[in-house]
Amino acid sequence: MKKKRKLNKNFKLILLIIIVLLIIPVIYNIISKNKLKTKGYTNEQINKFYDLSFDINTILEYDFCNDIDQILNKDYNKDNLETYLKKCNEIKTPDVQQPEEQKDPFVVKLEQERYYIPYNLQRYLNYNDGIKTPEEIVREVNCNIDKVFYTDIKPADLKNKNLILVNKYYYLDKNYKPEETKILTQNIYSYWTNAVLTKEAQEAYVKMVDDSRKMGYSLIDTSAYRSYDTQEYLFNNYIKENGLEWTLKTSAKPGHSEHQTGLATDIVKVGVSMYDFGTTRESEWLKENAYKYGFILRYPKGKEYLTGYDYEPWHYRYVGKDVAKYIYENDIVFEEYFAYFCEYKKEC
Ligand code: DAL
Ligand code: ZN
Repeated sequence: MKKKRKLNKNFKLILLIIIVLLIIPVIYNIISKNKLKTKGYTNEQINKFYDLSFDINTILEYDFCNDIDQILNKDYNKDNLETYLKKCNEIKTPDVQQPEEQKDPFVVKLEQERYYIPYNLQRYLNYNDGIKTPEEIVREVNCNIDKVFYTDIKPADLKNKNLILVNKYYYLDKNYKPEETKILTQNIYSYWTNAVLTKEAQEAYVKMVDDSRKMGYSLIDTSAYRSYDTQEYLFNNYIKENGLEWTLKTSAKPGHSEHQTGLATDIVKVGVSMYDFGTTRESEWLKENAYKYGFILRYPKGKEYLTGYDYEPWHYRYVGKDVAKYIYENDIVFEEYFAYFCEYKKEC
């Protein structure tokens, strides 16, 4: 009798344990479903999680995923669930919009400039005198006008043959000579017996002069390629004759002349001096047409403060047709083009 009672007691205990074991997952499920609901999931979505045997703990680990419906189909690979939720949480838009960081309005204006160069920002700010416009500041600093001429000089970049910039900040080595040159036939294309330009510049120049002849104009070169030594002689001679101040506005120091690149030519009307050339119809025609052949008027009127030289209606520089057209149409100087497109954009 005693034994029977004991068996009965044991059975009850086992039954209780079984019941508890069966109830625990049900309670756990109810708690989990409630948590999912609190997160924001609908009953329909929650049921799908169970149908598809998604790992509920993983879902609960992450914030509510707005795009969860996209994976609620039987083809979804459950192994990707965590990655999906992580990504979904990352792209979640913040509930409260963060106020944008306040930028100095002057910096914003500079950044809106067409030729703004980010790495020049500090120089733009230092150059700001409260009078110049952002456009003027960007233009002048890009041309290095914030630096004193001939003080911070660097070797010219020789990578792109037609776009070598030589000025009061960039110089050529004493021994630099253009590689492939072609002669300008004396009395047809130049006053001199041995005038040369680079092959490409010479061919463009010849075509330009030939075409101008068809219009009845008589253009001729009076100075093309010049060596370092020739430039040194000319520069020193100018100083003797006209003084340093005049010379610096008119002539380049040796190593700093574009003529040493073989890409520059001083063009005049036959029989007319350089200094009177600017009054001729020839000079007008050249100014408006040289770009079609790849040449630019290098030291234009009104741009003296950017180029560092007085107006030179005779000095033309070969840069190739595309660049010449851009410079002509946008009314900029080569320094502006070079700083933005070659140095900054690395498009040269
Ligand atoms: N006259 C120009 C600036 C030169 O000397 O190269
Ligand atoms: Zn010249």
